[in-house]
Amino acid sequence: MVRSSSILTKFASILIVGSIIMFLAPQVSAQVKVQLSVDSSKPGPKIDRNIFGQFAEHLGYGVYEGIWVGPDSTIPNTRGIRNDVVAALKVLKVPNVRWPGGCFADEYHWRKGIGSRAVTLNPNWGGVVEPNTFGTHEFMDFIDQIGSEAYLSVNVGSGTPQEAAEWLEYLTTSQPTTLAKERAANGHPAAYKIPMLGIGNESWDCGGNMTPEYYLRQLTIYSRFVRNFNPAQQGNQQMMKIAVGPGGGEARWTEWTDTIMKAWEKRQWSWDMQGLSLHNYTVINWANKFASVGFGEKEYAQILKETLKMEDLVTTHSAIMDKYDPQKKIALVVDEWGSWYAPSPGSNPGFLVQQNSIRDAVLAALNLNIFARHADRVRGANIAQMINVLQAMIMTDKEKMVLTPTYHVFKMYVPFQDATSIPVKFNAGTYTNSGITLPRVDAIAAKDATGKLWLEFTNVDPNEFVEIEVNVPGINADTATGETLTASMVDSVNTFDAPNTVTPKPITAKVQNGKLTIKLDPKSVTVVSLGNAK
Ligand code: AHR
Repeated sequence: MVRSSSILTKFASILIVGSIIMFLAPQVSAQVKVQLSVDSSKPGPKIDRNIFGQFAEHLGYGVYEGIWVGPDSTIPNTRGIRNDVVAALKVLKVPNVRWPGGCFADEYHWRKGIGSRAVTLNPNWGGVVEPNTFGTHEFMDFIDQIGSEAYLSVNVGSGTPQEAAEWLEYLTTSQPTTLAKERAANGHPAAYKIPMLGIGNESWDCGGNMTPEYYLRQLTIYSRFVRNFNPAQQGNQQMMKIAVGPGGGEARWTEWTDTIMKAWEKRQWSWDMQGLSLHNYTVINWANKFASVGFGEKEYAQILKETLKMEDLVTTHSAIMDKYDPQKKIALVVDEWGSWYAPSPGSNPGFLVQQNSIRDAVLAALNLNIFARHADRVRGANIAQMINVLQAMIMTDKEKMVLTPTYHVFKMYVPFQDATSIPVKFNAGTYTNSGITLPRVDAIAAKDATGKLWLEFTNVDPNEFVEIEVNVPGINADTATGETLTASMVDSVNTFDAPNTVTPKPITAKVQNGKLTIKLDPKSVTVVSLGNAK
C-alpha cells in the first residue's frame, strides 16, 4: 500500500512537473526561434579578403619565438621560421600581414635588420633587446611561406622620408640601382611586391603625438616620395598607401578623419592615398582591464556589449569619408582591432600575453560581421595580433603550439574571403544579463565565386539554443553543411595540455521547401554552405 501510494505520488508529481514543462516549453522555444530571410536577388559589395588580415609586431613573443626561432633551433623550421606556425597559418589563407608595428614601427630603422644586424632596444614593449635577426628579408620569406602579402608600416615618428623612400626602393625596384644590388647581395635579386603601406602608426599618440594638421604635412611628404617601383605594381595594381586615421569616435577623432579627408578631396597631383586606418580595441577600463580567463557571464556580456561599439565607429567615420569621397575610393582599414585584457598572471606586462576563450571567438565573429556589412567602405582589417600577443590566432611555448578559438573562427570564415555579400534580414531578439542587453543573434550571408551560398550565424546567448529558420527561395539545395564552434563555459579556452577544448564540430541541417532549419548551440559561431547531399 505504502509502496503503491508512494508510486502514485511519484506518478502524480511526474505528471505535474511534466505538464509544467509542457506548459513552459512552447514559451521558451518561441523566444529562441529566429526567422531569417536571404535575398540573393540583390547582391551587395564584395567582402574584401583583406578584412581577414593579421598583425605581427615586434612585441613580446609575437615575432621572436612565435615566428622566428632561428635556423639552428631544435624546433623544426625553414630558414629560421617555425614550420608548425607556417602550416597553421597557411590554412587561414591570411591575405596580408601588417609589420613591423604598431608603436614599434615608428622606432624601426630598416637598415638595422638587413646584412650584418645591429642590436637595438624595444623601449615600447618591455624595454627588451631587439636583435634585429628578423628583418626585411625574413619577413618577406615568412609571408611567402604562409602565402600572404606584405603590409608594411613606415617610420614617420622617428624616421625620415628619405629612409622610408630608400626602403621602398630597396624592396621594389627592378632597375640595377645600388640599393637593388644590395638586395640581391642579401639573397633576393627579384623585386618584392608590397601591396599595402601604412604611413606611420597612431601618429596622434605613440607615433609622435601629432596634431591632425602636423600629421597631414607628414602624410603629403611621405606619400609623394615613398614610391613603389615594382613594374608589376603600377596602374590598377598600385600599392595602397594608408594614412593614419582615428582611434575612437569622440570629437578628437572625428576632427582627425575630417582633416585628412578634406585635404584629400582638395589634393594636388603630387600626393594621394588609398586608405585611412582605424584602430579600436575592446577594452572597458584601460586602468583595470578585464581578465582573459576565469570570468563569469556578466563579464562575458560586458565585453561583447563593448565590442559592438565597432558598428558605431565604422558608421561615424564612414559618414565623414562619404562627405569628401562619395565614390568610396578610400578604404577604411581597421588595421588594429580585438580584445585587450589584463596580462596573464606571471607574464611580462609589456608583452601583452592573454588567454583566448570562446568569448573571443564570438567577439571575432561579431566584428567580422560588422566589417562585412560595411564592405563597401571597410576593405581592410588586421586583428591584433597574430601570435602570442593580445587576441592571437596561435600561442606557442618553446616547441608547443596551440590554436585559439579565434583561430578557428578565422578558419571557418575563409569562404567569405572575396565573396559577394548577400543581404539578410532577421529579428535578432535580445539576451540580457546583469542589466546588460545585447542582440542575441547575428548573421551574414555571401556567395563565393562558384555561386555557392555561405551563411554565418552567431548565437551570443550563452544559455539558450536558438533555432533559425532561413528562407532561401530559389536556391537549389537540400542540405546545409559546415562547422560550429562552441564550448561548455563562457571562459573555456584551449591550453597546451588541453588544446581541443574549443574546437569546431561538423554540423548538417536540412533544407525543405526553400527553408533551412538549423539549431545553434548557446555561445556559438556557425558557418554552413548550401548544397545537395548527393
Ligand atoms: O597592438 C599593440 C599596440 O596597440 C600597437 O603597437 C599600437 O599601435 C596600439 O596602441
